[in-house]
Amino acid sequence: MLSQLFQVLALASLSIAANPNYEDLFKPFVSPGTEIATVSEPDFAEVASPRWSTWQPPTFQAAIKPVTEADVQAIVRIASRNKIPFLATLNGHGSNKNYARVQNALNINLENFNSVVVDAVNNRLTIGGGVTFGQISEPLEKAGKEIQTGNAVCVGMVGATIGGGIGTLQGLHGLVLDALVSVKLVTAKGDLVVASKLVNSDLFWAIRGAGANFGIIVSATYEVYDQTSKGEVILASFGFPLSASRSAWEFVHSYDEHIPAPLVVIPAIRYNHTTQETSLNVAVVYYGTMAEAQPYLDQVAALNPISTAVQTVTNSELHEIFSMGACDRGGRHNGYTLGMKKTDPDTMEEIMQEMNDFYETHPNYNGSVSIQRYSNEAAMKVPDNETSYPWRDINSYLLFDNVYADAALDADVDDLSRSLRDKLQAASGYEDPQIYLNYAHGDEPLNQVYGASKLPKLRTLKKKWDPDHSFGFNFPIDY
Ligand SMILES: Cc1cc2nc3c(=O)[nH]c(=O)nc-3n(C[C@H](O)[C@H](O)[C@H](O)COP(=O)(O)OP(=O)(O)OC[C@H]3O[C@@H](n4cnc5c(N)ncnc54)[C@H](O)[C@@H]3O)c2cc1C
Ligand SMILES: *[C@@H]1O[C@H](CO)[C@@H](O)[C@H](O)[C@H]1NC(C)=O
Ligand SMILES: *[C@@H]1O[C@H](CO)[C@@H](O)[C@H](O)[C@H]1NC(C)=O
Ligand SMILES: *[C@@H]1O[C@H](CO)[C@@H](O)[C@H](O)[C@H]1NC(C)=O
Repeated sequence: MLSQLFQVLALASLSIAANPNYEDLFKPFVSPGTEIATVSEPDFAEVASPRWSTWQPPTFQAAIKPVTEADVQAIVRIASRNKIPFLATLNGHGSNKNYARVQNALNINLENFNSVVVDAVNNRLTIGGGVTFGQISEPLEKAGKEIQTGNAVCVGMVGATIGGGIGTLQGLHGLVLDALVSVKLVTAKGDLVVASKLVNSDLFWAIRGAGANFGIIVSATYEVYDQTSKGEVILASFGFPLSASRSAWEFVHSYDEHIPAPLVVIPAIRYNHTTQETSLNVAVVYYGTMAEAQPYLDQVAALNPISTAVQTVTNSELHEIFSMGACDRGGRHNGYTLGMKKTDPDTMEEIMQEMNDFYETHPNYNGSVSIQRYSNEAAMKVPDNETSYPWRDINSYLLFDNVYADAALDADVDDLSRSLRDKLQAASGYEDPQIYLNYAHGDEPLNQVYGASKLPKLRTLKKKWDPDHSFGFNFPIDY
């Protein structure tokens, strides 16, 4: 049966021209509900997975939206045999510049893999490979459970997990990939395999940090936990003007050595186009009661912020709030990032001043600079050799979210971001840059993204599991 299939495919591949007939090629081998469209067809936008950023995008000749695991297997086999490059995506948040190397490819839209099953008795969550962080919160909260996630509801849970997964519950529960128990994955050969600590453990090690290089995950099982503080979360937001931001940076700095696991501090430099002022917004999140959070809120309130807002929310409300604007599609996002373990107030003031100068001279630029500060306590409890993820020590993830519509700004934005990244690196507490893969710009050497200590094993496993480089367009591992 299989060999017959391959004979048919082999014949088919002989007749493939530069413009393959996607219907003829795939339709006979996938389930009837699988949608296929070429880029010139009107339903292409429906079949293809949407894209978040318009900066350096991949381009697609066609899109396919599989329904079953066997569909994904058939698609990978047929595309590989016919040398059609493919990229499986969910909501297309991956936006580093390597994606622009994907040209005239086939988009595999994972949206149909949207199942969410909570097993409260065994503390397990099993999701399809196309589930967003937002889709798991209601079923989990209903069961009185929680799990560490990214902060934006639109982001793909599996997409984020396989590069790390950082967010507000990280201090208590670790990286999202630390909660992963097992996956079902379609390999480059089109095989459907399980990977866990017990089965294909080498593959399981690799996908927890470099997952987009090794296959398409169709389902993933995670550990979940009882809700912290009955699901009560405190969210406070404080505003400081440029001229009076020093004490707020010192507050952030005071948590460099140690930050309590339930506490999150996120300073962000922004520009208000109406008032034409640069401000520092400090978000403080605490997983606990108002009384428990109060000492931390009092610390910031004592610094005379010009605005203060405090509210009690649920974890999912917190992430809905964090997603406002951030999840909007269609902007031009040219991001840069850096992992840090120090936030030197002198350097941060300098960065803020330079951002202010840039805002003033570039009125069409609408970017921000934020630092996500989480305790690394839980992540550090996992031995370094347990996963390929290399940067467990980072407690501050800096992100330049450069947003602007006009491509003419590219050069100035790149110059600014690179120079500020260098300046921050020198004060980061790390000798060599430690780059969080999911926020990478795409210009970083592989050592800075995957870690020099992890790369040799990753290269060996890449050769074993994906010798023809079918996967990994986001940050390809060479060998
Ligand atoms: C608005 C916004 C907020 C964000 N917030 C956070 C945050 O709080 N924490 C955090 O850690 N990250 C965050 N990120 C970064 C995010 O983790 C990465 O962009 C991630 O790659 C997004 O995955 P996706 O599936 O949504 O995007 P996609 O572009 O669809 O996928 C990204 C990559 O993952 C691969 N991939 C996706 N699904 C699968 C699968 N099932 N099997 C195999 N490979 C797969 C794709 O092939 C692609 O290479 C944020 C990004 C954005 C745009
Ligand atoms: C900018 O400042 C004005 C005046 O204080 C305020 O009303 C508005 O909400 C601010 N805009 C943003 C995007 O914060
Ligand atoms: C800048 O971004 C903010 C937040 O997303 C948005 O509210 C505002 O309209 C944008 N302003 C400009 C000038 O693009
Ligand atoms: C990690 O290292 C420890 C101690 O050397 C060893 O016992 C363990 O098997 C290693 N784990 C993996 C996944 O390699």
